[in-house]
Amino acid sequence: MTPQEVLSNTATIADHRRTRPATGEASRVAAAEWLVDCQIEKLHYGSFLAVRDAHVPIAGNQITAFIGPSGCGKSTVLRSLNRMNDFIPGFRLDGSVRFQGQDIYGPDVDPVAVRRSVGMVFQQPNPFAMSIYQNVAFGLKLNRFKGDYDERVETALRGAALWDEVKDKLSASGLSLSGGQQQRLCIARAIAVEPALLLMDEPCSALDPIATRRIEDLMLELKERYTIAIVTHNLQQAQRVADRTAFFYVDTSAGGRTGYLIEYRATGELFDDPREDRTKAYLRGEFS
Ligand SMILES: Nc1ncnc2c1ncn2[C@@H]1O[C@H](COP(=O)(O)OP(=O)(O)O)[C@@H](O)[C@H]1O
Ligand SMILES: [Mg+2]
Repeated sequence: MTPQEVLSNTATIADHRRTRPATGEASRVAAAEWLVDCQIEKLHYGSFLAVRDAHVPIAGNQITAFIGPSGCGKSTVLRSLNRMNDFIPGFRLDGSVRFQGQDIYGPDVDPVAVRRSVGMVFQQPNPFAMSIYQNVAFGLKLNRFKGDYDERVETALRGAALWDEVKDKLSASGLSLSGGQQQRLCIARAIAVEPALLLMDEPCSALDPIATRRIEDLMLELKERYTIAIVTHNLQQAQRVADRTAFFYVDTSAGGRTGYLIEYRATGELFDDPREDRTKAYLRGEFS
């Protein structure tokens, strides 16, 4: 199968789901496998070296958190997992991002197809100016889904813990919902196409604490079926939800500002027993 075939159609996304074990012991075995092997040697925006030496493999059916001070490249690394950086002029990646073995930066891969199989949720909830139903159905249409739309929309809204709140007003505008509901709508929109990977870039930073906890609970439910990578500024959030945590820092030694990976461990180990001095200092709150 070519990478295009692997990444370009809904049938393949469904295949990916089917190969995943569903129950307890089996899913723990699956969780030990890397779904994505992200090996960034150097990542440039034009002549600016934004990130170096970021090896962050992502395990299936787990939540992986990226933490670190502002500007250390968390969003950049996250966006390289669905080729969203391709939109930025001068972007260049040395290294590879292997998705179930296939390098998504390989010569034959269509970035549009990659983006369709990797869902993304942003900091600011961004429902489209259309109905709740149409928001969720949007990706399905894009993927030329041929099945039962009503069923998929309901499943996605249930999966995003939003169904009970919106089932009687599916034709209302997505923009009429509260901030927390809008973010869950964006999650429903992302999971409707059953993505192989779900990326979240600070998904709770525009939300109040109650809405934040709902999204965190939701993430823990979603990881039974999906693999999630999340950028968060909130260390407690990483501790509450993430199985693994990657700590990035900024190297200013050569006069630049280059993000790099300091330490990547199981979350409990990273927080309870950090190895690196930078990690210890960051977790003590010595810089932010
Ligand atoms: N579109 C862009 N063009 C040029 N430089 C960028 C762009 N986006 C981010 N950068 C730079 O890349 C570095 C990493 O940024 P970013 O990934 O946003 O960090 P973080 O998410 O950790 O705050 C920063 O120095 C930032 O200024
Ligand atoms: Mg960021």
